[in-house]
Amino acid sequence: MADTDNIQEAERYHLDIPVKNEPFALKGSNSLDWGMKNRLSNIFDPVSSRTVMLAVDHGYFMGPTTGLERIDVSIVPLLPYADTLMCTRGILRSTIPPTFNKGVVLRASGGPSILKELSNEQIAVDMEDAVRLNVAAAAVQVFVGGEFETQSIHNMTRLVDMGNRYGVPVLGVTAVGREMVRDAKYMRLATRICAELGASYVKTYYVEEGFESVAASCPVPIVIAGGKKLPELDALKMAYNAIQQGASGVDMGRNIFQSEAPTAMIQAVRKVVHKDMKPEVAFELYQELK
Ligand code: 5RP
Repeated sequence: MADTDNIQEAERYHLDIPVKNEPFALKGSNSLDWGMKNRLSNIFDPVSSRTVMLAVDHGYFMGPTTGLERIDVSIVPLLPYADTLMCTRGILRSTIPPTFNKGVVLRASGGPSILKELSNEQIAVDMEDAVRLNVAAAAVQVFVGGEFETQSIHNMTRLVDMGNRYGVPVLGVTAVGREMVRDAKYMRLATRICAELGASYVKTYYVEEGFESVAASCPVPIVIAGGKKLPELDALKMAYNAIQQGASGVDMGRNIFQSEAPTAMIQAVRKVVHKDMKPEVAFELYQELK
């Protein structure tokens, strides 16, 4: 039976303190539902509104990529430095400690290996399983201009519909085929299509010319992929330029886990992303930590 004896009169109404109605700071996300915003806050730091996502999902089409042969050995020690981990459900269940309590962005599309036409992907995860795994977002590859362009976009829109049902944001990952030009015009097209069709945020590649226009014309946050391994200073410069030109973070894989000193590198990347540290200074930090 409820304890109803001696109930005190409620009187702490703080009549002098107006109720705050603060906007949600993340670009283009103010009208989302609470669950979506809560999940996005597990990806984007609520103070900087930026993120360092550690991408280790390459095995879903490439198999045991250099640096990811043993995720338990090479990646688990990096987890304390990542805001978010991007991986497949196979790696999540088999290798990532369930005590990892930051955001997980789950790879949710797949199908072809590097031996086949990569754009021929399908949805590879049921949204109920994503919810069971308590993920912060689901990621889907979108091949604008690719052979299976419509199919990949349809994968995304189906995931967006399912994600909206459960409050799970969808990350649209713009994939560039070997034959496609990686310029601002293409990136504007691909990122805008993802955002228009419902992605909560979009991953793209950094381009030297005109990246500001890619970020400006995308109404939701953009994160950049690291791409192929670069010298550490160059990777830090790329991250810095992207952030200064409007990106909300990085989703970086090879430039961290294939670095000579991955733990030092991810810490240097964090400074560039969250603290606007100049790349040369971050590189000094990298060398000290290394
Ligand atoms: C694979 C991906 C990867 O997560 C992405 O490419 C990021 O990794 P990297 O920084 O190594 O490019 O989406 O399709």
